[in-house]
Amino acid sequence: MAVWWCDMCGIVGYVGEREALPIVLGSLRRIEYRGYDSCGVLVQDSANEQIYIHKGLESIGELMEKLHYHGTIGIGHTRWATHGMPSVRNAHPHLDCSGEIAVVHNGIIENFQSLKEGLLRSCRFRSDTDTEVIPHLIEKMLERARETGKPYDALLKEAVRESLSYLKGSYAIIVAIKGFDGLIAARRESPLIIGLGDRENFIASDVPAVLEQTNRVIYLEEGDIAVVKKDGIQIENGAVEVTRVARVIPWTIEDAEKGGYEHFMLKEIHEEPKAIIDTLRGYLTETGIELGFDAGHEILMVACGTSYYAALCGKYIIEHIARIPVHVELASEFNYSDTVLGDDTTVMAITQSGETADTLMALKKAKRFGCRTVAITNVLGSSVTRIADDTVYIRAGPEIGVAATKSFIAQLVILYLLGFYIADMPGHELESWLGELKRLPQLAQMVIDDSNTAIRANARYLAGFENVFFVGRGVNLPVALEGALKLKEISYIHAEGYAAGELKHGPFALLTDATPVVAILSYDNVYEKTLGNIKEIKARGAPVIAVAVDGDEEVEKYVDAVIRVPASRAILSPIPNTVALHLLAYWTANTRGCEIDKPRNLAKSVTVE
Ligand code: F6R
Repeated sequence: MAVWWCDMCGIVGYVGEREALPIVLGSLRRIEYRGYDSCGVLVQDSANEQIYIHKGLESIGELMEKLHYHGTIGIGHTRWATHGMPSVRNAHPHLDCSGEIAVVHNGIIENFQSLKEGLLRSCRFRSDTDTEVIPHLIEKMLERARETGKPYDALLKEAVRESLSYLKGSYAIIVAIKGFDGLIAARRESPLIIGLGDRENFIASDVPAVLEQTNRVIYLEEGDIAVVKKDGIQIENGAVEVTRVARVIPWTIEDAEKGGYEHFMLKEIHEEPKAIIDTLRGYLTETGIELGFDAGHEILMVACGTSYYAALCGKYIIEHIARIPVHVELASEFNYSDTVLGDDTTVMAITQSGETADTLMALKKAKRFGCRTVAITNVLGSSVTRIADDTVYIRAGPEIGVAATKSFIAQLVILYLLGFYIADMPGHELESWLGELKRLPQLAQMVIDDSNTAIRANARYLAGFENVFFVGRGVNLPVALEGALKLKEISYIHAEGYAAGELKHGPFALLTDATPVVAILSYDNVYEKTLGNIKEIKARGAPVIAVAVDGDEEVEKYVDAVIRVPASRAILSPIPNTVALHLLAYWTANTRGCEIDKPRNLAKSVTVE
């Protein structure tokens, strides 16, 4: 039988004096980027000790219209399936035999099969999930603990603690128990936070879920178990009571809302200039740059997806500016490779969410080699920050659209800063570079302001094709890869990013008038070479759209259309070029009527290997 893991999901909980249902659904809607195949809620009415449960394949929006449960305690779940089709049967919450203990879960219980075999002797299972063993275990432990005659709260905590001790794998869970005036939350290797309110508290996988209610947040740590009530929170770790400091999150609810844009992705692209400004502001001092760690003389960067492309840009950037060797590895490959690292290598993990499982594993592997580790992330207190020796925050603000946009731009900004930070430059030279960096927000803004003409026209054109190539050389090769990834994931057009000089080694066979090629150029040492590649592509009959700087008249002679970007020093060109490609992907997908913020089969933070 297929197993239904819940390794990529969003969970939320509420305990207070207000109606729980709208708060739980509202919170779930804000973290739908964690998954949106199926969802479920539970509301407990403390007045008559009733619990109401709904699980379904509807969207959260539909549930908001349809459900009308009353009660002041609630939990909810939104799921991203990795194994098996979504179904009501496998949606959360999952219950024990009595139907009184309910669990929502994000993670994977690796040993669920053996646990289930043991439990099947006395328990009735209703789903094919790994999660369902948890409420049944709690049910068993509670029966056992009851014999001790301890107070109810202590019994429940003990039963949860005991149950969790049997689990192998990862989890963030919220447990609701009929008749109990609180919720129990616990985490291991999956994120979980508690939002603090006034006579009410909130639990969630991610901060945006609670931002509408509060910006005071506790990040639960590995192994924490918390009893959350409306007027108090008790946290223990290893059966010892612990104190966790609340942090004030510098994000506002407007940061996490669409603010009049049709999609989060468009809003987030429009926030790219601000992400540059905020990230620069965080690290520019009166005398230069302060990143707060020693980068060493050899760097390995590990990352996935778009963050990996930022890392690849980082290689070109740092090697150009600081002239030290930079290696880049896909985290998922590095984890099982025979790569040997010297302890003088600094290993940097680049991850927007700070929760990507492959990237976290890679950083842990680097630590085993004795390497210094640095996290470059957007999310305060995320898992990666707990593993790395040092953390540098990009300051992109919450990114809700599943496709990464402003976080990529902010990651590039950190990589430029890192290059200058490492390079031992004379003061006047650094000053001149910093002047150029400070112009980047303006350049990005110019691309956005111009996007209604060339970018949208070319997007309408691309929307009619099923295959597109993106090519670039040097620092604009990763930009081409990012442009292709963005187009394919949100428009479902097959897009390939390629080194412009490599097409002739095979992909030329695919070039026809039905395979447009987007070529990215800047005035650098490979400008002429890229132009040569464009001529070769045109000779094979493929239409070419160039992304080129204002005033480049030469390129016009060889291509079918040009998307203009403002000129910058060539090594900085990935910023304006990527803004243009993000908009190109967005408007192409928009023309095709795609679900832009929630592309099929994807989720924003991939907490599974
Ligand atoms: C693509 C995208 C993904 C992420 C990747 C890594 O638009 O968003 O490829 O970049 O899943 O995520 P983080 O950066 O959170 O580690």
